[in-house]
Amino acid sequence: MPITGETFKQIGRATTGTVAVISAVDGTRNGIVALTVSSFITLSYSPPLCMFAIQDTSDSYTSLIEGVSFGVSLLSTSQSDIAQHFARKGREKTANCIFERGSVMGVPLIPGAAAHIECRTERVFIAGDHAIVVGLIEAARRFDHQPLLYFARQYGSFAPLVTSY
Ligand SMILES: Cc1cc2nc3c(=O)[nH]c(=O)nc-3n(C[C@H](O)[C@H](O)[C@H](O)COP(=O)(O)O)c2cc1C
Repeated sequence: MPITGETFKQIGRATTGTVAVISAVDGTRNGIVALTVSSFITLSYSPPLCMFAIQDTSDSYTSLIEGVSFGVSLLSTSQSDIAQHFARKGREKTANCIFERGSVMGVPLIPGAAAHIECRTERVFIAGDHAIVVGLIEAARRFDHQPLLYFARQYGSFAPLVTSY
């Protein structure tokens, strides 16, 4: 390995991510799969694309890389408990949750989020022990909540520097 695992982890802790829940209807398992990610980013303006990365050990992995659509709920600063909930393992984590359904793709979405995005799965790239899932954004809504951030294993919110730019 060109760097140690500890160096890799330290680099990861120096990055800040927006916290999102990726969710989808799993036709074969007759339910909803959902997991917390901090790897979500918007990607292309035209066509409108976004992406997230999922580890190949995730229970949601096969459903999300073989599925046709997924929802993205960009969590708000009051939803760190929801982030923790969907970072757990186990099918029961989606059983008693209230999901909205997207009006265009019908994907599951979490109420109270800072934004909702409905995606058609466009491409999947395997990269090491993760898959990069690229979605074509079919619909999106921004709500009046601040986004939840994750940095150095802690949740937080954005605070601008006080400067004179
Ligand atoms: C803040 C945060 C960010 C995370 N980001 C990712 C991510 O980008 N990709 C990923 O595969 N797992 C990520 N995880 C871990 C998954 O949420 C976790 O492995 C989860 O149990 C997977 O659920 P599943 O096995 O039901 O698919 C993150 C966890 C937390 C708390």
